[in-house]
Amino acid sequence: MTAAALGDGRTATQDLVRAGAASTVGFDKVSVAYRGAVVLKPLTLEVAAGEILAMIGPSGSGKTTALRAVAGFVRPVSGRIRVGGTDVTDLPPYERGLAMVVQNYALFPHMRVADNVAFGLRARGAARTLIESRVDDALGVVGMRTFRKRYPRELSGGQQQRVAIARALAVRPRVLLLDEPLSALDAQIRRSMVEEIARLHADLPDLTILYVTHDQSEALTLADRIAILKDGALCAVGRTADLYRRPPNRFAAEFLGRANLLPVVIEDDRSVGGMVAVRAGADRLLVAGDGAPAGTRRLLCVRPQHLTLTAELGYSNRIGGRLRQVHWQGELTHLVAEVGDSLVRIVATRLPALPERGGAVDMFFAPGDASLIPEEAGV
Ligand SMILES: Nc1ncnc2c1ncn2[C@@H]1O[C@H](COP(=O)(O)OP(=O)(O)OP(=O)(O)O)[C@@H](O)[C@H]1O
Ligand SMILES: [Mg+2]
Repeated sequence: MTAAALGDGRTATQDLVRAGAASTVGFDKVSVAYRGAVVLKPLTLEVAAGEILAMIGPSGSGKTTALRAVAGFVRPVSGRIRVGGTDVTDLPPYERGLAMVVQNYALFPHMRVADNVAFGLRARGAARTLIESRVDDALGVVGMRTFRKRYPRELSGGQQQRVAIARALAVRPRVLLLDEPLSALDAQIRRSMVEEIARLHADLPDLTILYVTHDQSEALTLADRIAILKDGALCAVGRTADLYRRPPNRFAAEFLGRANLLPVVIEDDRSVGGMVAVRAGADRLLVAGDGAPAGTRRLLCVRPQHLTLTAELGYSNRIGGRLRQVHWQGELTHLVAEVGDSLVRIVATRLPALPERGGAVDMFFAPGDASLIPEEAGV
């Protein structure tokens, strides 16, 4: 591609040296179909400038499709896509100011590391000195400067993926699209790469990252916000900790990690500070209300590690049960209690003494750590 091929009056070099201003990404009722079959239902979602938004969901839920629509590799059947306030729906991929990294590295095997990283800049006709400094910067960001002369086959999987990220960064994208960038790596390398991506974002706070994964722990670690897709539709979106603590539905609750789901009935819908009273068997609990009237059946959702066995300051809710299992694992103790017909899991970090199996047990949790969700599985 030559400078003229950018076709909007800017030269390629001007385009490359443009300060990497933070950029939003907007999906406005974006729908995608393959051969008439809709795989992404009208999606409306805003990614804030400089944020990491993780898009998670089961296999086939439409995550890659949504990312490909932003990148310009697939055309929506309806809706508009904006990057930094500009409607890019009709622009080709290379004019969108984005870079994408996919699961399987996709490095050019016959090119050395430095040439792989330089590829996008050469394709845009950048000057040699600019290419050299950009390649050096990009390799520096991912800690791969000393590997510049190697071929991809001479690198480990994690190193190859770092080069792939450097290659994406070299063109100074406003938005980085990552599609399961770590899923081909083994668990230990994956954990250290998650830390590296977090560091990379701390070094480049203006970079907006759309991070697709089906690993909820990657999403919880990295993301400012999480969007959950299910069957091509957005089923939940929110700030990471809020979504984890107070998922809006059962699917979101269970997709983000272990969740205790106890049947309760709203007893008093008069909200005090947003809290309403619910009944779980013999226990009366205060939790954040969801607007449903008294008498409505709901599931109370609380995470195993948000339950404690001793009342602490601010832990105003108590559920009584009978202890069925106690598994001491050094730092953590996993316990299972029977509450009515339900089993409740508890993960405790500090226990003064191991409780007796079969005995009565009181469990406590803070109202802010629980949510009420509808009984049905879906949205
Ligand atoms: N090129 C294509 N032609 C036809 N159908 C496709 C095409 N690409 C994807 N699909 C279908 O679209 C749906 C969504 O696919 P997509 O790749 O977006 O899922 P995903 O959420 O990324 O899944 P995974 O976690 O497995 O990567 C799937 O049912 C898939 O079979
Ligand atoms: Mg995918």
